[in-house]
Amino acid sequence: MSDAVVDDAPAYPMRKAEGCPFDPPPGLRELQKQGPITKVKLWDGSTPWLITRYAEQRTLLADPRISSDTTQPGFPRLVPAPPGASGQVLSFIMMDDPEHARLRRMVTAQFAIKRVEAMRPAVQKIVDDQIDELLAGPRPVDLVEAFALPVPSLVICELLGVPYTDHGFFQDNSKVLIKRSVAPEERAAANARLREYLDGLIAEKIRRPGDDLLSQLTERIEAGELTVAEAAQMGVLMLIAGHETTANMIALGTFALLEHPDQLARLRAADDDPELVSRAVNELLRYLNITHSGRTRLVLEDIEIAGEVLHAGDGVIMANDVGNRDPEAFPDPDRLDLGRQARHHVAFGFGVHQCLGQPLARLELEVVYGTLYRRIPTLRLAAEPGRIPLKHDGFVYGVYELPVTW
Ligand code: HEM
Repeated sequence: MSDAVVDDAPAYPMRKAEGCPFDPPPGLRELQKQGPITKVKLWDGSTPWLITRYAEQRTLLADPRISSDTTQPGFPRLVPAPPGASGQVLSFIMMDDPEHARLRRMVTAQFAIKRVEAMRPAVQKIVDDQIDELLAGPRPVDLVEAFALPVPSLVICELLGVPYTDHGFFQDNSKVLIKRSVAPEERAAANARLREYLDGLIAEKIRRPGDDLLSQLTERIEAGELTVAEAAQMGVLMLIAGHETTANMIALGTFALLEHPDQLARLRAADDDPELVSRAVNELLRYLNITHSGRTRLVLEDIEIAGEVLHAGDGVIMANDVGNRDPEAFPDPDRLDLGRQARHHVAFGFGVHQCLGQPLARLELEVVYGTLYRRIPTLRLAAEPGRIPLKHDGFVYGVYELPVTW
């Protein structure tokens, strides 16, 4: 690619308050039509590669010559780095193997499909209790505050051993961390508060271990395999990833279904059809792709792909939201079709960093989508669809509020 093309690189099209609330930004679709790979310009003038097609995204995400280490010079930044970022303890999501694998392996067993499936009755009880509370409360009500946020927060608290009574504290700080428009200093301060909180919890678990994931990590600390700081940062990662993403899928998924009544009717009728509910979960994950800012990476060694050479030191952004709308991978991609087999979507990423919590997220969404609309069959929006506040400015897409009634 010539330098002139790089100079002319279009700005990376991020979501704005325009168009269909469920579709990727039109500018991104345009770039996808032009080809699988191009250069885009970020806020700091840097020009990383943008990968728009599904096949190339999967190929690159599985390539060990691509790094997730955000401390390396040239790593593409969607927002300014927090001050002193280089001295911070990183989450393993921002590390490469073997360090990434060493830490991830310490928690993979807790997220194995069988282990997670055993949690189904407990998750069903949480969902049923929250719906009971919803039905007993006033209406209209904001579904985000009253249901979408409490369900995954309760589940991840139970799994990690975090007291749910502290949800106001950790939800407020998570909100800061996943907002793009927040000042870097503010983001660093929110992370520090969460780290300090997790440090305290881990110290408590060392004194009085329970039957939870954080207590299991303290055994690793005592065996000298893990530092307290590493364990606390893992706790922060799992606590945030464990509730913010799923909460957004519950609320935005409900909005999308209410706007597609034919699809909602299929789901409501799927009482005895776990296969349809499971397909619906994957299809909504594909269609909504809430981790919409793309997977950022750095090239470690030259890589040839789609007629271009990605040089060592180049930044790369994998735009998974358009990858999931690639007609080569998903026929008629803009149609929400709950019966479609969409399990191969990239909404959970791909390769070594593919979402650790995906069995848990799938389980929670199956229980929620399979229960909520059946138990409240007249659920409907209590505001004009065009007035629902959307998280254009979030690293995770969703709705800030979803006023509903029944
Ligand atoms: C619908 C819900 C969810 C979505 C859409 C989602 C999406 C993602 C994506 C796209 C990645 C890959 C990041 C990358 O490649 O850079 C990821 C990683 C991760 N997710 Fe999730 N996630 C969800 C739920 C969860 C839950 C419930 C947990 C529970 C703890 C979780 C924990 C993690 C962790 C720890 C990683 C880092 C994995 C690694 O770097 O090896 N996620 N998630």
